[in-house]
Amino acid sequence: MQISDILQTMDYGKAPEDSTIVADWLARHENGFGHFIDGAFTDPGETFEVQNPATAEVIAHVTQGSEADVGTAIAAARAAQPGWAALSGHERARHLYALARHVQQHARFLAVLETIDNGKPIRESRDIDIPLVARHLYHHAGWAELVEDELPGTQPYGVCAQVVPWNFPLLMLAWKVAPALAAGNTVVLKPAEYTPLSALAFAEIARECGLPKGVLNIVTGDGATGAALVGHEGVDKVAFTGSTDVGKTIRKQIAGSGKGLTLELGGKSPFVVFDDADLDAAVEGVVDAIWFNQGQVCCAGARVLVAEGVEDAFTAKLRARMDKLIVGDPLDKNTDMGAIVHPVQLERIKSLMAQGAAENVEITQGTAPEGCFYPPTIVTNVQPASILSTEEIFGPVVTVTPFRTPSDAVALANNTRYGLAASIWSENVNLCLDIAGQVKAGVIWINCTNVFDAGAGFGGYRESGFGREGGREGMQAYRTTPAKQGRDRTLPALTATPQDSGPQGLDRTAKLFIGGKQTRPDGGYVYGVEGKNGPVGLAGLGNRKDIRNAVEAASKASSWGGTTGHNRAQILYYLAENLSARAAEFADRLTSFGQSTQRAEAEVETAIRRTFWYAAQADKFDGAVHATKSSHVTLAMNEPLGVMGLVCPTDAPLLGFISLVMPALAMGNRVVAVPSQVHPLSATDLYQVIETSDVPAGVVNIVTGSRDDLATTLAQHDGVDGMWYVGSAGAMVEAESAGNLKQTWVEGDGARDWTSPEGQGRAFLHRATQVKNIWVPYGV
Ligand code: NAI
Repeated sequence: MQISDILQTMDYGKAPEDSTIVADWLARHENGFGHFIDGAFTDPGETFEVQNPATAEVIAHVTQGSEADVGTAIAAARAAQPGWAALSGHERARHLYALARHVQQHARFLAVLETIDNGKPIRESRDIDIPLVARHLYHHAGWAELVEDELPGTQPYGVCAQVVPWNFPLLMLAWKVAPALAAGNTVVLKPAEYTPLSALAFAEIARECGLPKGVLNIVTGDGATGAALVGHEGVDKVAFTGSTDVGKTIRKQIAGSGKGLTLELGGKSPFVVFDDADLDAAVEGVVDAIWFNQGQVCCAGARVLVAEGVEDAFTAKLRARMDKLIVGDPLDKNTDMGAIVHPVQLERIKSLMAQGAAENVEITQGTAPEGCFYPPTIVTNVQPASILSTEEIFGPVVTVTPFRTPSDAVALANNTRYGLAASIWSENVNLCLDIAGQVKAGVIWINCTNVFDAGAGFGGYRESGFGREGGREGMQAYRTTPAKQGRDRTLPALTATPQDSGPQGLDRTAKLFIGGKQTRPDGGYVYGVEGKNGPVGLAGLGNRKDIRNAVEAASKASSWGGTTGHNRAQILYYLAENLSARAAEFADRLTSFGQSTQRAEAEVETAIRRTFWYAAQADKFDGAVHATKSSHVTLAMNEPLGVMGLVCPTDAPLLGFISLVMPALAMGNRVVAVPSQVHPLSATDLYQVIETSDVPAGVVNIVTGSRDDLATTLAQHDGVDGMWYVGSAGAMVEAESAGNLKQTWVEGDGARDWTSPEGQGRAFLHRATQVKNIWVPYGV
């Protein structure tokens, strides 16, 4: 027998981690856990059982948070917030450093507790989860120190409601709590009902380190507790990680409340293997992508797309590797895959697999013990429309699908409603970077997967949610600018008149502007526009169909986002010059609405200057390179949202329009803009300026008419990726946007003085972009 044979056949002995320390802790709490509110634990109330999923043993009883509990916790957070925010950044930093150090001191305890509560292998909780928790706290301690300098003009939101899932219980807590506290907010956090224990242990650590009372509050409970928390009127900002369905529910629930919102939701991430990839490395990548944490990872590489030339070789290697995985006791240091978090989740995996199996797919599985375990699974011969390709299974199941060309790979990768992450494997880094630019996902890993660092943002595109956690973007998500009250003003009703029988003697009727052409409104109706001395013109009364046509035209103009910032700048400069050449005409139009000549001239002048300013930004508002790990750099790229719906302010009819449209265009978005309903003609006068400025057809589309009818269609449209709305129906816009989770920015009319500097700035560029973080091997 050769040594290699021995190595191949050798059985691993058991290497159990000692769990006495956790058993003792649980024994000390055998009467149940209360909430952590205002620096102290409450007595346990009505409790529910918490199980160790690997053994089905009940390990704790935890309180089901009531509405009253939530209210008490929010009141404590509210009372503590001014004092916490009034500390110097340095003082807040010292608290966060202390938390980080104490987490490190308790690292072994926390790792074992996490493994017992969640079922994840001890190797992962010990080597990945807990070190990343400490890293997050350290990184954000630094942010506390710097936030006033680095994010000037911003302030904390106030009280943050944070709801986290069960797949990385303590890590998700750290991702939420660290930036919130660093930014000067106080927190009420609800851990998931399957895995509440490490959050309670963290609360003990916070008490031990002397974190001021009320700054961090933990309320345990299920979805009902979560709903009570995020919906509470005392909350200023909501941060949620969990399923896309609950994310949409929350979006609707808090629509119109003025609360800030970030959502980290589901995914079905592609893992693309080209024919020149290092196949052995890629196979190890799949292990980390889908068999890490039993596949219960939002950014799991669940869809392997492999070049057809290497499909057989790759799949054979993958199957051989899968056979070697050890599934079983999570506390055993040899274990590769532990238990599924809860029998409910196991049933969900089984049910999705049963539905998929009915479709003639080929399923290969490793082995798993009896109980709450699921074997590592490879599914081949699976169609892109199969439930196994489209649904987030949240288990150790990977599909393998061949592709022919790089563009096929991109099409398959993007064939999903999600956009959280993607992993790309090829020895040709040119190819990887080319594909990275085309895949719609917030995180791209090149020749690696599931790599995380507090210094880089993490978060999704599309229905994977919005907002980023980690890095500068993550800090920005916990700071706001002072809110100003808008006016809740009712617009006069529009009188629809058939197009060809409008009042005589008026200016020509302004048409709509769609796909680079002036078009008649679909319904054939126009409405009268009032000036200071009576009617001054007619504008098209756009309808649903016009909006749909405009969105279609905008979708087709996608090459705008791919042109260089320089090219976009040139076109916007040209536009500004053309506007400048006709300044007098635009000022006349504004005076016809009742503005003084002086104010009208100032508005036109500011509109011109603002257009130049955004033109200048087109090739300057760029991303960053983060030095995240010794073996990687992370490129944080500002990408356009895509198609944006812009519903412009009622006042400052020219400048309001320019203030929304120009930043969106400068960043590479295509827009469907609804001008001021009352004074739309300043915007429709721009048609010729746009036509003569080389703006490609479809990049700017303008639909006049009833502001809120048009806004409703835009908010509901799945082809719209982002929406800015100024007016009184912000609640409707936010609620209707939940369908495809488009990003929204709503404000009341009059909340901002568009003629002043607050009508312009980097905040607009931030809102017009989303950051894609691309992890590139470096220095190794
Ligand atoms: P979930 O989204 O219901 O649970 C996540 C958290 O949200 C928990 O703390 C839960 O108590 C809370 N929650 C539930 N309903 C709520 C509501 N209406 N308002 C506020 N908070 C609420 O996810 P669940 O049911 O545990 O898992 C179902 C599926 O969701 C999984 O199979 C997986 O596909 C997906 N999921 C995705 C996660 C991710 O990180 N992307 C994390 C957890 C689940």
